[in-house]
Amino acid sequence: MINKCLFPVAGYGTRFLPATKSMPKEMLPVVNKPLVQYGVEEAIAAGMNQMAFVTGRGKRAITDHFDISYELEHQIAGSAKEGYLTSIRGVLDQATFTMTRQREMKGLGHAILTGETLIGNEPFGVVLSDDLCINAGDSVMAQMVNLYKQFRCSIVAIQEVPQDQTEKYGVISGEALKEGLYRVDDMVEKPKPEDAPSNLAIIGRYILTPDIFDILRDTPPGKGGEVQLTDALLTQAKNGCVMAYQFEGSRFDCGSVDGFVEATNHVYQHIYKA
Ligand code: G1P
Repeated sequence: MINKCLFPVAGYGTRFLPATKSMPKEMLPVVNKPLVQYGVEEAIAAGMNQMAFVTGRGKRAITDHFDISYELEHQIAGSAKEGYLTSIRGVLDQATFTMTRQREMKGLGHAILTGETLIGNEPFGVVLSDDLCINAGDSVMAQMVNLYKQFRCSIVAIQEVPQDQTEKYGVISGEALKEGLYRVDDMVEKPKPEDAPSNLAIIGRYILTPDIFDILRDTPPGKGGEVQLTDALLTQAKNGCVMAYQFEGSRFDCGSVDGFVEATNHVYQHIYKA
C-alpha cells in the first residue's frame, strides 16, 4: 500500500553536543541500537520496503550503517559474536536505502521537498527518528497505514501535551470524527500556549500524499524563517483533507537529554532485559 518512508536526518543535534560533534544524532544508541534503526524497523513493520534518507554533511555514518560492513562480517563470520549482527542484517534484507543531500538547513518542509526525487508521485511515510515510538501491538506507522487505507489523505500523529509545552511542537485543532481521530481545520507551528489552538501536538510520524511537494514549493518561510511542513499541511487541510491521529503507544522525545534517558531506561527494562 505504502512502500516508501522518508527520513529527514540532516539536523545538527546541538542539544547533544559534544556527543554529536562528529557523530550524527540519529546514530546515538538507545541501549545497543541507533535511534534511526528503530525508525527503520518501525517503517518495515508497517509494510514499507524503500527507505529514503535526506542527509547532510557529516552524516556518512548513517549511510554506512545501512550497508554491509565487509571487514566486520568477514572477521566474525562463524564465531559466537555473529549473533550481534542479526538485527541489522534482517533490516538490510527487508529494505533498500537511498540517500540525497540537503545542502542548506532551511527547515523540515525544505527537507521533505529535497526528498521528492527519492519519493516521486506516491504516498509515503515520514519518520523523525528523534521521536522514538514503542508499543506492544501494531507500530505507530502501521496504525497510520491502516488509517490511510480508509481516508486516502495525509495523516499526522498527535499526542496531548501539557499546555505550557505547545511551543515545542506543531499543534492542531479539528473536528473529532471518533475518539482519537480528528479532521484538521487548523495547524500552527510552535505556538505560544496562549495562541495554541489546542494541546494536541504533532509527533514525528506522518503519512503524506505527494501533492505536498507542490504545496511545499509554494510555501513561504514561516516560524524561525524556515519552510514549515506544518504550514504546507494546513494548506492541504484547507484544500482537501488532513487527518490527525492520537496513536496508541509510548513516545520518547530523544531530541532532549531527559527523553533520551527515559527511552534508554524503558528499552533496557522492557525490551533488552525482557
Ligand atoms: C518538528 C515539526 C513539529 C513537530 C515536531 C515533532 O519540529 O516541525 O511540527 O511537532 O517535529 O517532533 P522539530 O522538533 O524538528 O523542531
